[in-house]
Amino acid sequence: WRLFSLLAVMTVFLSACGEEYISTLRPAGAVGKEQFNLLLFSITIMALVVVVVSVLYIYAFFKFRRSRQGEDYMPKQVEGSHTLEVIWTVIPIVLLLILAVPTLISTYKLGDVAAMEHVDEDGNKTALTVDVTAKLYWWEFAYPDLGIVTAQELVVPTGEKVYFNLKAADVKHSFWIPSVGGKMDTNVENINKFYLVFDEESEGLKDGVFYGKCAELCGPSHALMDFKVKTLAPEAFDAWVASMQATEGQIASKDSTDLGEATFAASCLGCHAVSSVTGMPAGAAMGPNLTTFGDRSHIAGFLEFNKENLVSWIKDPEEYKPGNLMTGAYKVGNNNPDELSDEEISALADYIMSLSVEK
Ligand code: CUA
Repeated sequence: WRLFSLLAVMTVFLSACGEEYISTLRPAGAVGKEQFNLLLFSITIMALVVVVVSVLYIYAFFKFRRSRQGEDYMPKQVEGSHTLEVIWTVIPIVLLLILAVPTLISTYKLGDVAAMEHVDEDGNKTALTVDVTAKLYWWEFAYPDLGIVTAQELVVPTGEKVYFNLKAADVKHSFWIPSVGGKMDTNVENINKFYLVFDEESEGLKDGVFYGKCAELCGPSHALMDFKVKTLAPEAFDAWVASMQATEGQIASKDSTDLGEATFAASCLGCHAVSSVTGMPAGAAMGPNLTTFGDRSHIAGFLEFNKENLVSWIKDPEEYKPGNLMTGAYKVGNNNPDELSDEEISALADYIMSLSVEK
């Protein structure tokens, strides 16, 4: 009964956290589906083993019980059986081989990133590559062949392989989009490579986006290190790339008549860029690139997107994401929001929310 109640509690717990849009059991795209099939296949074999062993165990339990034979009955003493030993050695070997073959085939197939280096006659890369950099506690997505960079929301075309170079800037994190595939560690010292395919129709989609998570315990705000994945049809993706490239040279000016922009230039520009074109001054890459902030669905990856939340976040990021580097920057810089008036912070929030390439 104790075991039964434990199982009941676990079932309730697991079903409560089984939100469809962030579930490996609702796979989208070729990679997610292949990993899901492998999962089903292994569970089927394991379930068969559990059933056969349980039946044998229960049979032996009743067949050889003491009361059946009388109190002083001495059962037949068995010293060993070569036949049985061979059987119970060979069966697991066969089962492990059956598991190993499809696992290895899938592993090599999903790890095949040779196409990432292919170039056409003009010397342009033919496969879309995204450099993912995990940082405490946010994600940077750079498209090296397109010369653009963004943060927190990965944008990808549907129906084609998207190749990833994964690395971390500080400590080990792990890149995981449960519905689409993964997960794979992001390390500081070496780059991990793999690819994913994104389907446009999926139960794993919520409000048109897939949800991604950091899957490696990395610090106090590990659980809040979320990102989103926007999927676009190939033509829409090309249009998005063009609008990102068009932000070249965009910068906030301290002399602006817009109070928000002037405040941003004085207090935030040292760490946050407002142009998505790569190769901006080094300092502007310290914090998440904000060029597409107005297009985001969440603030800091998890707060509902509204001005009130943005103002609270600017005033005290530590309250929401303990251990994030913005709090530290406040302490060493001259950009402490305590020195800004409510009017300035309000204008600052309006300015940041107006940054967009989609509107
Ligand atoms: Cu990054 Cu957990």
